[in-house]
Amino acid sequence: MMEQFYFIITERCNLTCSHCIRDSSPNRNETAEASMIKKALTQIASSHPDSLVLMSGGEPTLHRHFRELLDFGLHLGLTMTINTNGVTSFFKDSTLKELSQHPRLSVQVSLDGDEAMHDSIRGPNSYRKAVRTLKRLVDNGVRCSVSTTVVDVDFMTRADTFISSLDNIGLAHIAIKRATYAGRAASGIDVNGKKWNEHVYRLRALPTKTLLKIAPMYDFDRLDSLSDDALNSLALPPSATNCGAGTAKVYVYTNGDVCPCTCFKDKPMGNLYLSDLDTILTKPPSVQVKHPACNACRYFRLCRGGCLGSGYQTTGTIGMPDPRCPKVAIVDRELETIAYFQRF
Ligand SMILES: C[S@@+](CC[C@H](N)C(=O)[O-])C[C@H]1O[C@@H](n2cnc3c(N)ncnc32)[C@H](O)[C@@H]1O
Ligand code: SF4
Ligand code: SF4
Repeated sequence: MMEQFYFIITERCNLTCSHCIRDSSPNRNETAEASMIKKALTQIASSHPDSLVLMSGGEPTLHRHFRELLDFGLHLGLTMTINTNGVTSFFKDSTLKELSQHPRLSVQVSLDGDEAMHDSIRGPNSYRKAVRTLKRLVDNGVRCSVSTTVVDVDFMTRADTFISSLDNIGLAHIAIKRATYAGRAASGIDVNGKKWNEHVYRLRALPTKTLLKIAPMYDFDRLDSLSDDALNSLALPPSATNCGAGTAKVYVYTNGDVCPCTCFKDKPMGNLYLSDLDTILTKPPSVQVKHPACNACRYFRLCRGGCLGSGYQTTGTIGMPDPRCPKVAIVDRELETIAYFQRF
């Protein structure tokens, strides 16, 4: 069942964040036609009425018809979220009042750390402006959350003060995740898996009023302690396997391409100018994972190679697993060493 539809309604952005998965910037001009988006929204309302529609980009609020598209989806009864950097002129007082009339609408603002860290990634004054937008939205009764993309392990050591500074705003949640190796973050990031997990358990124990969404990654110390029976009894929903790309969520791009995720932008499942959404969704992608670490892995049934998008982006080969998995990284290093000595 499709749970989430991301609409990349424009690749254009007013910011040029150093980690941007979509390589968005003021120099990008690709923009979706409003008629194509409206047709897709109508199909979603009829075939997937319980799904979540996320208006994203680039910076979606820069789309010339953004408000019209948002109102169109909301009037169809869809549950919608705006993914925004919170640094545009869209959020006027009158607009905030109107947005608060829609109980099915929420706004997700990106904050990538405290002011110094956020501004070093997103540009000067962007933190101050985004937090101001966030507070104005909440004050007007709009349901809001924060999404944090971590690019530097230093974030985790400073995360407590970052989280506590947001705790009184009245957010629905703060979601913190490691950056995906794609776009301007394709060369990887400085967040070691073991260190990440240590901080995750520490942060989860903080006595916050706001719900914190943060998950351990490849925590083999804990997984190895599970018995085979316990492991076999675990059944994950499609959204938890390979993050649900193509099976529980899809991305609609400005040119009408429907893709499993941003990392597979060049491997569309179909195009909305050539076919209708429901027909495209009948053919979910099936990727065979071909990596010695995964082929021998006790957790393959549950994990299936993790983020295959990161694997594709870093190697250029479909079927390569998540390079952030320590087992994959160890085997890759061994294979590189063997290849090195085979040259002599
Ligand atoms: C691409 S942005 C588009 C919406 C809006 N411009 C914003 O920044 O929120 C959507 C989300 O993707 C996150 N993001 C950007 N680069 C990423 C990466 N390399 N890995 C994972 N998430 C990333 C952003 O932090 C943001 O929360
Ligand atoms: S992460 Fe969002 S705000 Fe930053 S460049 Fe990408 S699209 Fe723009
Ligand atoms: S990515 Fe591969 S090796 Fe790592 S946990 Fe998942 S299946 Fe196992």
